[in-house]
Amino acid sequence: MNDTNKDIERKPDIDPGEISSEDEARKTINSLRKAIRYHDYRYYVKDDPIISDAEYDQLMQTLEKLEEEYPGLRTEDSPTQKVGGEPNEELGLVDHPEPMLSLKSVSLEQDVRNFDETCRKELDTDDPVYICEPKYDGLAVEIIYENGRLTQASTRGDGQTGEDITDNIKTIGELPLHLLKESEKDVPETLVIRGEVFIPKNEFEEMNKQRAEEDKKTFANPRNAASGSLRQLDPKVTAERPLHIYIFQMLSPQDHGFKSHWKVLQSLPKWGLKVNEELNKKCSNIDEVIEAYKEFSEAREDLPYEIDGMVCKINKFEHQQALGVRSNNPRWALAWKFPPKRETSKINKIKIQVGRTGKLTPVAQLEPVNIAGVTMTRASLHNQHEIDEKDIRVGDTVLVERAGDVIPQVVKPIKDERDGSEEKFSMPEECPVCGAEVVMSDDKKQTHCPNINCEAQVLERLKHFVSKDAMDIEGLGEKRIKKLLDHDLISQPQDLYSITEDELKKLDDIAEKTAQNLLKEIENSKNKPFDRFLYALGIPHVGNHMSRVLARNFTTINDLEKADKGKLTDIDEIGPEVASAITVFFAEENNLKVIENLMESGLTLENPYSEQKEQPLAGLKFVFTGNLEEWTRDEVKELVEQLGGRATSSVSNETDYVVAGPGAGTKRDDAKEMGVQIIDEEEFKKLID
Ligand code: IVH
Repeated sequence: MNDTNKDIERKPDIDPGEISSEDEARKTINSLRKAIRYHDYRYYVKDDPIISDAEYDQLMQTLEKLEEEYPGLRTEDSPTQKVGGEPNEELGLVDHPEPMLSLKSVSLEQDVRNFDETCRKELDTDDPVYICEPKYDGLAVEIIYENGRLTQASTRGDGQTGEDITDNIKTIGELPLHLLKESEKDVPETLVIRGEVFIPKNEFEEMNKQRAEEDKKTFANPRNAASGSLRQLDPKVTAERPLHIYIFQMLSPQDHGFKSHWKVLQSLPKWGLKVNEELNKKCSNIDEVIEAYKEFSEAREDLPYEIDGMVCKINKFEHQQALGVRSNNPRWALAWKFPPKRETSKINKIKIQVGRTGKLTPVAQLEPVNIAGVTMTRASLHNQHEIDEKDIRVGDTVLVERAGDVIPQVVKPIKDERDGSEEKFSMPEECPVCGAEVVMSDDKKQTHCPNINCEAQVLERLKHFVSKDAMDIEGLGEKRIKKLLDHDLISQPQDLYSITEDELKKLDDIAEKTAQNLLKEIENSKNKPFDRFLYALGIPHVGNHMSRVLARNFTTINDLEKADKGKLTDIDEIGPEVASAITVFFAEENNLKVIENLMESGLTLENPYSEQKEQPLAGLKFVFTGNLEEWTRDEVKELVEQLGGRATSSVSNETDYVVAGPGAGTKRDDAKEMGVQIIDEEEFKKLID
């Protein structure tokens, strides 16, 4: 198949409700099948999908719907009748004793309620019990035990025939080669089970890091890595991969004396087979199922492995049998998918953002796209190097991903979608705000506006100066600062300290009371300690912690100004890059002038970290867990640093004390395991007294 197939619509735009004749339905069905086959090829063969899973599911659902409405148009070779990809014959082929079906996937609560409605009606029962399980994002396998001995394992393949992976699966440590005999039930003569093989997130990262170091191709995601690892021709390679397994199905359970899926799940571990005892959930009605989905969604980020939804299954096998199978999906189960974290969108424009230090960042303005419940309109493209490497162009349709946090990333452009109107992008030669000539590093990873009076830099610097961890001046948001700048009331931080009430009242949204409050806030900020002031200056690389390190080692701003690189790097926590940033900052005449003016405005700059003070915690590292009575987490962190210590968030063998209050969590267990001393709040107080 041609991978830049222009004849195939990536996403045929279809509303099945609008189709009124069989002829129209035939045409639509054909284009849907064509598109789905093409996407199967991109996904399974090329390992390079160009639509998101959700979009694929949508195509499949539309096709299923149409085939249901026009059964005469259903053909045996329709994608709805087929599961997964072609098996690789090199591994040897295995026929499954029963076809490995796929699950119907849905995305809305209403779909799940409709499913429940159908089950209740057809089973003529009030509230059937449902079992909810994570939908693992790995690779489905079938394993056969004969007289308790693992004799065969296979992948799903096309659903009828899979690949023989017997030798490979035997390398998974947690899968028994012989079944245990702890169950009250005898080990059956033949036991066929199915489950999912996966690679946990952190082991995947580790594995990819190592591969990158060895100049090997990295895997796109844990699922691909699991699939590639299990389908190796040499089991020695598989043995080196961090594969894990959860079992989620037994074939012919009634022949083995089981009446319900829940009973199966409870019995499998007694034979040594791993089921997800932590998450699998028995629900006695559909509301509990919906509750379980919410719990799974919340747990998702913190799970050590990837899941992409929840599987809901009817518990009783007689109910499962009564409902049966339709077009390759059991009618007794559903996959309720999470909102996708990857979606496609279009880059309408690339804008340049100028930061506080003059750094220019290209930002993609996206066609609004909803990813996992959050509407995204922008994504950072980082720098020219990244744009060139991914070959991102203005007008491109792109795959956008919301990784762990909320900042979306442009994964890649979908080149098949290009019509020639897309334009390559180059960083501007002039700052878009002030017009100064910009400077780009040779590797194209950094672009800077060198003009420190650039309006954008001034605004960002002021925003930083008044922010909470800096001078903490409440009531001065971006809008108000812009207004003050526009009215020429301020241009530098020191100007804040000479504003008058009359001047403020001239601004249309500031009444007398607001003006007075703002002035009070500004006045109070004069008493902020030395470390906050250092942070407020916005010296590159000097964040919260570094400003405290500096305050501990330099009593006044004059001392720091005089320090050369050597003196700075003599300090334990300061490396050459930070030292250089600090000396460059103080070498700049303009910066010295700003500082001088600020000092003249009456800042007190008391230094609570100064070495003249006692430092009972000098050199000690603390981790706090649970609740404290006397301080909030931020307060105690600041206190520890004032007294010469350091508070970190996770326990390591460098930690000296874990201070555990009521409700202490896993950090306390970590400390125990590592032999780190655990103390309570009272004992901590004694240390600082
Ligand atoms: S049960 C037909 N349970 O989903 C019922 N499947 O679309 C048999 N999957 O190939 C599957 N987690 O790879 C089941 N807890 C779970 C699952 C699960 C993931 C996958 C499995 C299967 C696909 C079906």
